[in-house]
Amino acid sequence: MSELLRVREAAEYVAGRTELRPEVGLILGSGLGGLADEMEDATAIPYPSIPHFPASTVPGHKGRLVVGRLAGTPVYAMQGRFHFYEGYAMEQVVRPVRVMARLGVRILIVTNAAGGVNESFNPGDLMLIVDHINMFGTNPLIGPNEEEFGVRFPDMTEAYDKELRALAEEVARERGLTLRQGVYMGLSGPVFETPAEIRAWRTLGADAVGMSTVPEVIAARHMGVRVLGISCISNMAAGILPEPLTHEDVIKVTARAAGDFGGLVKGIVARL
Ligand code: HPA
Repeated sequence: MSELLRVREAAEYVAGRTELRPEVGLILGSGLGGLADEMEDATAIPYPSIPHFPASTVPGHKGRLVVGRLAGTPVYAMQGRFHFYEGYAMEQVVRPVRVMARLGVRILIVTNAAGGVNESFNPGDLMLIVDHINMFGTNPLIGPNEEEFGVRFPDMTEAYDKELRALAEEVARERGLTLRQGVYMGLSGPVFETPAEIRAWRTLGADAVGMSTVPEVIAARHMGVRVLGISCISNMAAGILPEPLTHEDVIKVTARAAGDFGGLVKGIVARL
């Protein structure tokens, strides 16, 4: 079965579950999942019930698509995402993005937790993604090109939409939030990087490193969807501070930043 057919079938299933037709998609990263619980007129669709969506491999991991209104604006919110390091194929990692685009999404807001490579950052900082570096060693568009999705050789000159970035900056300013800016480097994980790798990635132009987002943004741009990306700097990357890195610390810091992060995202969504 072609990917186009899988995406179509998944989209038809979702469309049949709700009357809402959002034009905004939201990928809620670590710490932000709670935003989906603030949605109104919400329909929650567990991923395993959607045709061609993989069953989650992580126990106790909430994986669902919530369709409803956030700050008054209809959105599809992904509560949980499929990471490449979990063993999913790239096609599976980006399938929900393609389904949202197929359903009419014009703007995708991607969020994540990331390690700070730029030494002027601090844990808890929010960073507007201005560009990315794909270090996954693969690409979700490898394979026959599906012309209904987009062109064979998509332009990535302005992957992160200038107007949306300006809007994010404006909302941050109004809320008195400091919004850093930087380049996000996406890596497969699941290991955190070595200090030598972090020095290398800094030399290459990375301000933050993470294990998601890049494939999703590539798939979104392929389909002409405008993208806004925001990272929560959950920790300083390896070798900057003396302590070892743990997932627990990532969770702790993103939970602490969730109020500001969620407020910023809601403020942006309200203006779309
Ligand atoms: N490295 C990679 N991914 C991450 C990190 C990190 O330090 N923190 C959160 N996601």
